[in-house]
Amino acid sequence: MDKKTGKPTPAEPEPEVSIYESLIATRPKEPPTRRAFLTGATSLFGAAAVHVLLAPFLGHAANASGDPTRVPGALATEYGRRSPFERAKRLTKPQRSRTPLQDLHGIVTPSALHFERHHNGVPLIDPAKHRLLVHGLVERPLLFTIAELKRFPSTSRLLFVECSGNSGKEWKGPKGKTAQEIHGLTSTSEWAGVRLSTVLAEAGLTPGATWMLAEGSDAAAMTRSLPLDRVLDEALLCYAQNGEPLRPEQGYPLRLLVPGFEGNTCIKWLRRLKLVSSPVMTREETSKYTDLMTDGTARQFTFDMEAKSVITVPSGGQRLKKTGYVEIRGLAWSGRGRVEKVEVSVDGGKNWRTARLQAPILPKCHTRFCLDWRWDGGEAVLQSRCIDETGYRQPTRKELVEIRGTNSYYHYNAIQSWQIDEEGNVRNVQV
Ligand code: CO
Repeated sequence: MDKKTGKPTPAEPEPEVSIYESLIATRPKEPPTRRAFLTGATSLFGAAAVHVLLAPFLGHAANASGDPTRVPGALATEYGRRSPFERAKRLTKPQRSRTPLQDLHGIVTPSALHFERHHNGVPLIDPAKHRLLVHGLVERPLLFTIAELKRFPSTSRLLFVECSGNSGKEWKGPKGKTAQEIHGLTSTSEWAGVRLSTVLAEAGLTPGATWMLAEGSDAAAMTRSLPLDRVLDEALLCYAQNGEPLRPEQGYPLRLLVPGFEGNTCIKWLRRLKLVSSPVMTREETSKYTDLMTDGTARQFTFDMEAKSVITVPSGGQRLKKTGYVEIRGLAWSGRGRVEKVEVSVDGGKNWRTARLQAPILPKCHTRFCLDWRWDGGEAVLQSRCIDETGYRQPTRKELVEIRGTNSYYHYNAIQSWQIDEEGNVRNVQV
């Protein structure tokens, strides 16, 4: 009732009841736990309607359906999380997961999306109890805690890591569908730690020390022999990745990182370095991680990851929805140094154009390339090839198979071909 006129007050428009506002009206003073949020959400929506993934973001979810300027946003969090609208994820099997290359931008792989490969699970290691033993052909055998390693002068580098088995199924034909499925066992991070040479100088190398055995403390006790003259200058003992301690699946609390070498030499959960005078011939360098040639011999100690590239947009499993401008995007890298040039073909390798390289262009690191293209709605076969600073050019599949045969599983770096049909569907083909 209006007090002046005595007439009934016109009905107020129904207020837009925000789920978020009703939540904050009953918000406890302490930051609610995930369970409290779920319970609250359950009473509001009924259990069936609760989307577990969205639960911590009810504020955002409410805002998304209306005007985000009308209600306060979500509260600050101790450890950040991504928008619930973003769903890029690793493709997992028990002992490996693949990076969604087609969903990423720039060159850094988010730590949570870095590929993983392990041989008997990810160990849970208390950094306070972890030790690194340096022994063998040294003047002073030493045992380090992580805290002691962190006291050494530190260094960091942006570097790619690639499993030597990346793209390995392609030896047998166009097996994979997406860039992630085929090439997702490579990622780039900023790795921080101490130089191997700094730690070995502390132990003092004796003249016979020419190889180094590195051993992990996982249940597989992953172990590799490395030639000292190739690793001493560049290898890092890393305790951090992208600004924070290593992820458990990346070797927490300590891993070896050998720039440009096959991923399995970058021993995770590192517990032992033994200086020796010849390779130790572990399982991982005899029955595994060797490349069988057509004459029955095998390549051994093939450490370097040769130049490679992949177009990530458009790539297998995607679909071009309309004709016209498309920015072709991809990643290129070389274990031998910097990417010098990336060339792109849209006609299956008949004609090539030079792609733009995005800064930074760093040695032994993923490098982003782009090329403007106009899709006319016809069939096309997209390819990219990387030329590195040594002058090496990424081979066609035919060139690679002529030299290596098809008995290999590791070190497949042939040019990837993506076929686009008239409906815009993109498929993995080998031409
Ligand atoms: Co190899």
